[in-house]
Amino acid sequence: MTPEPAPAPAPPPAPLRFPRGFLWGVSTSAAQIEGAVDEDGRGPSAWDTFAAGAGRIKDGSDPRVTTDHYHRYREDVALLKELGVGAYRFSVAWPRVVPDGRGAVNAAGLDFYDRLVDALLAAGVAPVPTLFHWDTPQALEASGGWLRRETAEHFAAYTDAVAARLGDRVTRWITLNEPAELTLLGYGLGQHAPGRQLLFDALPAAHHQLLGHGLAVQALRARGATDIGIANSHGPTWPASDSPADTEAAAFYDLLLNRLFAEPILLGRYPDDEIAALLPGPVADDLKTISAPLDWYGINYYQPTKIGAPTTEATDFLGVRLPPGLPFAPREITGRPRTGFGWPVVPEALTELLLSFRDRYGAALPPVMITENGCAYDGIEDPERIAFLDGHLRALRTAMDAGVDVRGYFVWSLLDNFEWAEGFGQRFGLVHVDYTTLRRTPKASYRWLRGVVAEA
Ligand code: NOJ
Repeated sequence: MTPEPAPAPAPPPAPLRFPRGFLWGVSTSAAQIEGAVDEDGRGPSAWDTFAAGAGRIKDGSDPRVTTDHYHRYREDVALLKELGVGAYRFSVAWPRVVPDGRGAVNAAGLDFYDRLVDALLAAGVAPVPTLFHWDTPQALEASGGWLRRETAEHFAAYTDAVAARLGDRVTRWITLNEPAELTLLGYGLGQHAPGRQLLFDALPAAHHQLLGHGLAVQALRARGATDIGIANSHGPTWPASDSPADTEAAAFYDLLLNRLFAEPILLGRYPDDEIAALLPGPVADDLKTISAPLDWYGINYYQPTKIGAPTTEATDFLGVRLPPGLPFAPREITGRPRTGFGWPVVPEALTELLLSFRDRYGAALPPVMITENGCAYDGIEDPERIAFLDGHLRALRTAMDAGVDVRGYFVWSLLDNFEWAEGFGQRFGLVHVDYTTLRRTPKASYRWLRGVVAEA
């Protein structure tokens, strides 16, 4: 018998190609990398307070030093330059600029971002500041934080102070990072700062963040800004089966994660009357503010979620214990590789997400940027991260070929950093950080991305 011929080896994957002018970037946030929490007049943030409470952070760590970027930013800018990315998304710490959240501006706090922006521009990297990445000034949090409408107004005043100082050199702005996660994890379930467990009574925090976004857009426009977006977290929501109960539960979760935060901005309305009834009303005028046109829409994508009908028991979901009685129950996505964090790796869900946004919002959707995408793995040799990013970039390219207008892609994250309630246990960086010596070591994925950016 003649032996079966060996299967032909798979052809090498086609090189990743993106249109000329496609924006390559990496992202970080202040609370996760800066450290220096007591320096130069910075006030405490809700995360400083939360992390100081016993048992809140898995490894018992806190954000006091993190990667010490506040002192080592020149080294980090050199890493960005060497990586060859066109843009760097960082966040401005509100408590550094306005220590009490309202009132006096701390010039020394703004000086830091002034130096950072100058260093970036000198390195040929465009600064893309996010004005709020979860570090609410503690003084505001103590009086209710985002549950109160005034916080949105104070946020706009702080935005104006930042734009007044940096607006001569910064052209592209991001208002908020992931208001959905702050609402859900911070005010709803208590896994993140401020540690409130209000369940659906957390929804005013969603509305006030969205209002803060709209008021910040007004403040930026008044200072002449012409390139403004938001970084919202989104992901496809898959029903566990096609039973009506699972389908309904998945649609409800989609409403909470995706539509509640996209539709006020893109369509000027809340997606559902039941949800709208839980918001501090009346909201009609606020929705006009919230839906002021954006120049682009930022999406942070990590994974899809599988959702089934409610159960009577508490469920564990991505490390969060969900109480019983919610109108949905997360189910495990099986048969997929998992990141070090245990998150399923599903690149094609990024294509699905982008196509669904195009289909849902049509002409109301401005050009899109992927403002975060990445994964946690240990090790300086990190082939899994390379495979993850390669897969997601191909999925992104597929969506672009199908007509979705995507203008840029930012990897989360430049450096290993303080991963919120996980502490330093989850490493998302392209660059490894030794938390004892604070030494930075580029990983294999950093070198890989440098090649992609150079050739794309
Ligand atoms: C989204 C958040 O914006 C970021 O702060 C966080 O570190 C990553 N997700 C990874 O969990």
